Amino acid sequence: MGAAEYVADELAEALQALGHQAVVHEHPQYDKIPQQDVYWLICTSTHGAGDLPDNIQPFIAALKESAPILADLKYGVIALGDRSYDTFCQAGHQIDQILTSLGAQRSAQLLEIDVKNAVSPEDQALEWLPTWLKSTL
Ligand SMILES: Cc1cc2nc3c(=O)[nH]c(=O)nc-3n(C[C@H](O)[C@H](O)[C@H](O)COP(=O)(O)O)c2cc1C
Repeated sequence: MGAAEYVADELAEALQALGHQAVVHEHPQYDKIPQQDVYWLICTSTHGAGDLPDNIQPFIAALKESAPILADLKYGVIALGDRSYDTFCQAGHQIDQILTSLGAQRSAQLLEIDVKNAVSPEDQALEWLPTWLKSTL
C-alpha cells in the first residue's frame, strides 16, 4: 500500500548519499536479483493475517523453490507492521527465517516498525541503517 516502498526509497537515497549503489526492487524478480557481491536489505510490511504482501510473494516462492545456497550473502530486514495484530511483523520474520535457512547471514537485528506508533517509519529505519552498515560492510 506504499509505506514499505516509501521507507525503501528513503533508505536507497541515504545509501546513495553515502556513496553506495542501491537499487529498489518494488516487484522483485528472482532471476533479476544478484546473489553475489551484493547485500540484500528486505523492507516489507505484513498483510492479511501475517501474510507476505503481494509484491514479494512471487520472489519468495521462487526463492523457496530454487533453494540456493546463500552462504556468502549478508542481509538485513526492516519489517513494518501494526502491533495490534498478533501476527505483528510476521512477513519480515518469515523472510528472515527463509534466508537464514538458506545459509545467509542477517548482519544486524531485524528492525520492527510499529506503524501505529511511529510518527515517521522512515526515520526509525534511517536511525537503524548505520548499525546495519557497520556490521555488514
Ligand atoms: C488488511 C490489513 C491486514 C494487516 N495485517 C497485518 C498483520 O497481520 N501483521 C502486522 O504486523 N500488520 C498488519 N497490517 C498492518 C500493515 O503491515 C501496516 O499498515 C503497514 O504499514 C502497511 O505497509 P504497506 O503500505 O507497505 O503495505 C495489516 C494492514 C491491513 C490494512
